[in-house]
Amino acid sequence: MNETTAIIGGSGLSELKFLKNAQRKLVRTPYGDPSSPFLIGKAGKRQVVFLQRHGLGHSIPPHKVNYRANIWALKSLGVQHIIAVAATGGIAKNLVPQSLVVPHQVIDYTYGREQTFFDGSKNNVHHIDFTMPYSSILRQHLIDAARGLALGVVEEGVYAATQGPRLESAAEIDRLERDGATIVGMTGMPEASLARELDMHYACLSLVVNPAAGRAEGEVSIEDIKTQLQQGMVKVAAVLQASL
Ligand code: HPA
Repeated sequence: MNETTAIIGGSGLSELKFLKNAQRKLVRTPYGDPSSPFLIGKAGKRQVVFLQRHGLGHSIPPHKVNYRANIWALKSLGVQHIIAVAATGGIAKNLVPQSLVVPHQVIDYTYGREQTFFDGSKNNVHHIDFTMPYSSILRQHLIDAARGLALGVVEEGVYAATQGPRLESAAEIDRLERDGATIVGMTGMPEASLARELDMHYACLSLVVNPAAGRAEGEVSIEDIKTQLQQGMVKVAAVLQASL
């Protein structure tokens, strides 16, 4: 990865300790304000832009994130590659908490989100190909980085993007599983397709933080999710650093 890479931090990843000489930058966009100021610095020789998806102090829920402003701003900063960090629930049996997953497919169950730059408002009808929603090159970087650190990584996954902010019912997770989804999160879309609309490479590094609803005894524990996030983001940061 030679060019400018962005990292979008999700729940549990509010800073990148390895970023050197980081400067804060505010960007305004035709779509409103991005989630937070951008931190622009160096990781080795690479220029890296970091964005907190949920805002400073984790104040923006998944359905209120201004995905268009975030992606537009990253493009305006010269970003070509985006690595999106996402906490997810594990649907597939083998995807237990602390699993790292690099999904290769996505299914969008979100609604009511501003999900395109080509909304027809300026006669700008435009269709993008989305057969392979994630960049295979970026995915491979992430997989190689995790392997290089001897961290187990699940090299494929189908990410179900749900609306949130509530978690799912057990029957909803059964349905997602029948659809072929293996992990579930709330922020994967429309982030991935907006990046494609602006011609940026995009991949997701996901940390499983809970068994999805109905996939373990009892209810999903929000306290357990917090603990898993704290433990797991150390690994995620290591993979990010190694991949840059
Ligand atoms: N469902 C949706 N989003 C999530 C989950 C989940 O179980 N865990 C972390 N993000």
